[in-house]
Amino acid sequence: MRRFGLAVCMSVAAVALSAGTARADKLTYYCSAQEDWCQLMARSFEEATGIDVNMTRKSSGETFAQVKAEASNPKGDVWWGGTGDPHLQAAEEGLTMEYMSPMRDQLHPWAISQAESANNRTIGIYSGALGYGYNTDLIAANNLPEPGCWKDLLKPEYKGHVQMANPNSSGTAYTTLASMVQLFGEDDGFEFMKSLHANINQYTKSGSAPIKAAGRGENTIGIVFMHDAVKQAVSGFPVKVVAPCEGTGYEIGSMSIIAGARNLESAKKFYDWALTPEAQNLALQVNAFQVPSNVNARTSDKAPDMSTIKLIDYDFAKYGSSDERKRLLKKWDDEVSTLPQ
Ligand code: F6P
Repeated sequence: MRRFGLAVCMSVAAVALSAGTARADKLTYYCSAQEDWCQLMARSFEEATGIDVNMTRKSSGETFAQVKAEASNPKGDVWWGGTGDPHLQAAEEGLTMEYMSPMRDQLHPWAISQAESANNRTIGIYSGALGYGYNTDLIAANNLPEPGCWKDLLKPEYKGHVQMANPNSSGTAYTTLASMVQLFGEDDGFEFMKSLHANINQYTKSGSAPIKAAGRGENTIGIVFMHDAVKQAVSGFPVKVVAPCEGTGYEIGSMSIIAGARNLESAKKFYDWALTPEAQNLALQVNAFQVPSNVNARTSDKAPDMSTIKLIDYDFAKYGSSDERKRLLKKWDDEVSTLPQ
């Protein structure tokens, strides 16, 4: 009898233990788009699926560095947003995994070609053109001419008035560096970055920080994606958006599943959901003016019209390759960032 009682107690304890350790599904989500959009995506996915989301927002280059540093013991499951180049580098270095979403046939060709150039280890979620924006009040107050071209930014009168991010941490700034190399050729592109350096007041960590500072009146000109400048203008700040006259580069914002993801099923659910028109339309609630990759998602009428902007044929395969990204960043570190100002 005593032995029977002991057995009952033990099995009750075992059931209680397994109930106590049963966990809800969860997802560790690294986000490299704007903070308010990252938060909205996290909360909306939780509501849609009941999966607990733990979100961290960092810039594209920083997230790449984190995923690489964690490679032997991955902590993240899915990386959503940020420029495509570091996603491509992560794919090449085996830091992200192949996944064929059933949503692929609803996507624009540019989103699929991003996937194909990475053996389907990443995919395009939005696109947007690079440019700059300026605070019209500060331009007027300082008696400065209104710039309209990349080369205008080199004029000595703009000294201390231009801000951009550091291309090591920021995908926006790496896109700027790679775009200048493609637009002007490598030698002249680096000459451009060196002359620009003389006018830069600060290299920020995050790509959109320079235009937020311009909106607040703390900086005059911010080199950013045009959609980030539009967001400031739409929010009521005196910001004018420029598509530079020489032409410009653009991004294919991307998403990847991290190799060795601990919550792989949750990561796949997020990936498929993030490609739906419903999830992509959330952008409109937070004034995110990128062009969505799902053909059925809505693009805001305030979004920069990519068809009217002179875009270069940005070579994503080349500038997202591990060797090229490392080489250009090292060259910028050695030859540009060290110059006196
Ligand atoms: O603010 C949004 C955004 O410009 C995205 O379009 C882009 O992918 C991302 O930020 C790049 O951010 P960062 O330059 O900080 O890596």
